[in-house]
Amino acid sequence: MTRTVAVTTLGCKVNQYESSALATLFRERGYKVVDFNEPADIYIINTCTVTHLGDRKSRQLIRRAARRNPRARLVVTGCYAQISPEEVLSIPGVDLVVGTRDKFRIVDLVEELLEGERQPGAVVRDVFQDVDFEDPPVPALPSRVRAFLKIQEGCNNYCAYCIIPYARGPLRSRDPEKVLAEARELVAGGFKELVLTGIHTGAYGQDKPGSLDLAGLMEQLALIPGLLRLRLSSVEPMDITDKLVDVMATSPNICRHLHIPLQSGDDTVLARMRRHYTTGWFRELVQKVRERLPGVAITTDIIVGFPGETDSQFENTFNFVREMAFARLHVFKYSPRRGTAAASFPDQVSAPVKEARSRRLIALGEELACSFAASHIGREVKVLVEEELPGMQGFYTGLTDNYLRVSFPSREDVVGQLVTVKVAEARGPDLKGWII
Ligand code: 5AD
Repeated sequence: MTRTVAVTTLGCKVNQYESSALATLFRERGYKVVDFNEPADIYIINTCTVTHLGDRKSRQLIRRAARRNPRARLVVTGCYAQISPEEVLSIPGVDLVVGTRDKFRIVDLVEELLEGERQPGAVVRDVFQDVDFEDPPVPALPSRVRAFLKIQEGCNNYCAYCIIPYARGPLRSRDPEKVLAEARELVAGGFKELVLTGIHTGAYGQDKPGSLDLAGLMEQLALIPGLLRLRLSSVEPMDITDKLVDVMATSPNICRHLHIPLQSGDDTVLARMRRHYTTGWFRELVQKVRERLPGVAITTDIIVGFPGETDSQFENTFNFVREMAFARLHVFKYSPRRGTAAASFPDQVSAPVKEARSRRLIALGEELACSFAASHIGREVKVLVEEELPGMQGFYTGLTDNYLRVSFPSREDVVGQLVTVKVAEARGPDLKGWII
């Protein structure tokens, strides 16, 4: 009988990419991939540990899988598995814990377990040993239209709050020829948009002197015939070079969208976070980007309640975020991570204060997202259509290059096409309109 496997994911775009790669690997080996809410023989939980909420949600998903089919094999991988293997293994029902370095060997590991050749336990290696870029075995396809392309792994920055360098190891870049080859294959396979992902994507090429940097790589990728859109997922402010902005401005298929994690709008807090820029410098960067890329969507991440953050330092962040008028905000409550510098800083901020700051900033983020969307009412925008809205026949949805979701009715099936839509109204941060 065909074995069934279900994969679920927490956390970042790289994890999403890797989960679809895992599903494809199982499919290629003859397994049937089913939804995580269905009974399956094997459950794969691809976890996140960026904050303690990542850990908690990971544990919840593991327990849910155990309840759904008590006889199923539970396999836990990802950053939480890498950082806390013993904790994961102690959850009832967990059979295998697979660290970030062995993720793509997961089918072999599962089969060894099923054949009785491997005892339940953890397969976790040192992330600082033998660190070449591990080419993903297969591409990841979140929709029929858009594909993720992982170009880089790891990070050497060691921001004071962040555990990810310990979970994924040092910076390593994928060979540009391999990136280009995979991109051409994806486009030949019908994909219209490629999203470049990585852990510290902006540092692409820095580990290989003389190799292409991110701007150079994007310039090459943008030339692939048939590629309607090339999108960048997240870039650190220090990595946004003039050349990168230039390439974005001159390549018509590169999306006007930059996710630039700010983390704090207070210079003292930024320095203690070990972020190597000031708000003044960031302001100039944003001005420059907006001049060169009119209409650009600039989105960001903010951490509230970093150790020692005072009320007035938080006010500085609040005011700076409003001044920068980000198109979208991801707000994180600071979570001490074992082994990071900031975990042992004095003056940890209390949970209720973090909660209150987070709520205020989330509300501001919603306000900013709505006004960014509303500024498009009455305009014509280009939408790459992703799908028919589930349960709404004749209604389609997709994204603009500057990351606005637009829905509209259409008599024809326009999935995969770049269509022009006249925006009629905004519904919160999303838009509705008419195809023209
Ligand atoms: N606590 C809270 N947020 C964190 N992030 C990273 N580490 C932590 C932490 N310890 C946030 C940062 C980063 C995003 C992916 O997660 O804002 O940009």
